[in-house]
Amino acid sequence: MRPIMRCSAASRSRGLMERSPYTMSTLEPRRHALRCRVPCGTIPPGCRFEMPTLSADDIARLVEPDRVHRAVYTYPQVFDLEMERLFGRAWLLLGHESQVRNPGDFFTTRMAREPVIVARHTDGSIHVLVNRCAHRGTTVCESASGTARQFVCPYHGWTYATDGALAVVPFADGYDPPAAGRSDLALARVPRVDGYRGFIFASLAGDGPSLLEFLGHLRTSFDDLVDRAPDGQVEVAGGVFKHTYRGNWKLVLENHNDAVHPAFVHASSIWAAREQPKADGDGYAEIAVRQMLQNGAPAELWEGTGLWAAPYGHSFMGDYHTDDRLVTALDHPVFREYRAALERRVGRETATRILGVSRWNSIVYPSCSFMSQFRQLRIVQPLAVDRTLVSAYSFRLAGAPEQMFRDTVAFANVVNGTGSPVLTDDLEVYERAQHGLTSARSDWVFLGRGRGGDQPDEQRTWRGKSGTSEIHIRNQLEAWVQYMTDEP
Ligand code: FES
Ligand SMILES: [Fe+2]
Repeated sequence: MRPIMRCSAASRSRGLMERSPYTMSTLEPRRHALRCRVPCGTIPPGCRFEMPTLSADDIARLVEPDRVHRAVYTYPQVFDLEMERLFGRAWLLLGHESQVRNPGDFFTTRMAREPVIVARHTDGSIHVLVNRCAHRGTTVCESASGTARQFVCPYHGWTYATDGALAVVPFADGYDPPAAGRSDLALARVPRVDGYRGFIFASLAGDGPSLLEFLGHLRTSFDDLVDRAPDGQVEVAGGVFKHTYRGNWKLVLENHNDAVHPAFVHASSIWAAREQPKADGDGYAEIAVRQMLQNGAPAELWEGTGLWAAPYGHSFMGDYHTDDRLVTALDHPVFREYRAALERRVGRETATRILGVSRWNSIVYPSCSFMSQFRQLRIVQPLAVDRTLVSAYSFRLAGAPEQMFRDTVAFANVVNGTGSPVLTDDLEVYERAQHGLTSARSDWVFLGRGRGGDQPDEQRTWRGKSGTSEIHIRNQLEAWVQYMTDEP
């Protein structure tokens, strides 16, 4: 049997841990307002989706064991339900504690359709506040990040503390009772906020699985990233790359563990890299050329790469790199210095175990993809059924040689940068897929690669028949159905 992935499990969050900076709201669990108001029938193959609403049965019929209906990528009403039932319930990764290191530090982001502020309060606690003035709805902060003592609404001057409390109201006596300090006029708090190894997660749902249950075996991917730091911590550094594409949000999460696409989608950069003279030195070009060459690895290597699926739609891929400048076992002066620093903290045996983990991309569905080898995180935010924002962050390993971070930035530029010759290939195929799926001549997307060969593995994971299996996409859609058919 496949692992059960009910998103509505009755278990509650583990609550505040000792010294945890995370706060839990006392707000009532969110009520899901979108309901089927008009009875609707089943969706037969070929249906053109002219129904005003979708029932749970309608939604379930959109996903079959080896194929998915194109409406899942193109139908605005499906997107509306995703905002309520998937992004409105799942734990979403918002960022990292190093982005709000000191009291008053904040950054803004969004959860489903909610604009939110992540802020460190004066007592050290971290709050996720809905960015909407309680007076007449204006956002109280439009900066991407910064440090503030208070958030002042630009419209009539209502002023909020960094925990959302209403602190100042001009002409306060004009309200009955006076508005200043009223708890019912504070910035709304997102119901559940929690963290794992410094990564900040939040959920718009008042109940559901705890963060630890939700992450499951994917916790080890975060461990893999953080344990590599000689000083035991990682930090966001070097800015952020943001890009949008004209396609559905699922396309990028399906792509990151797709081991067949590099040889085709990235063919032009592979050819260009093969034309380069042999790389020499530690410069940016070396990392870029080596990564582009590796995308052209032989088919047997991709087939032999491990690919695992986990409950709640998560997945991770083993390393496919054979180039010793790109893998953990590299014998390089900078790496030897780094390894010595790590061994000083954890000892030789533990350092060998930590550096022996060879994962590539880990996907925590539905909000992010990250990898430890070059310390990258990509947060995925749906903007519309055919519009997606991706923000790519780089991490510095505290205590590691500075050259390690230069390699991280070099890798970010070649893979996640907005001028990247690799990323632009992927964006092109996402937009072509979205365009092709507007065709009504054929309704189904085929996802059968490797089906029938999936095998159960440790910690409730399933391993794909080979590294080129589409198990991770089938697994994402299985979780998608469970979120989407769980009616409020
Ligand atoms: S809308 Fe914010 S103070 Fe009036
Ligand atoms: Fe790609």
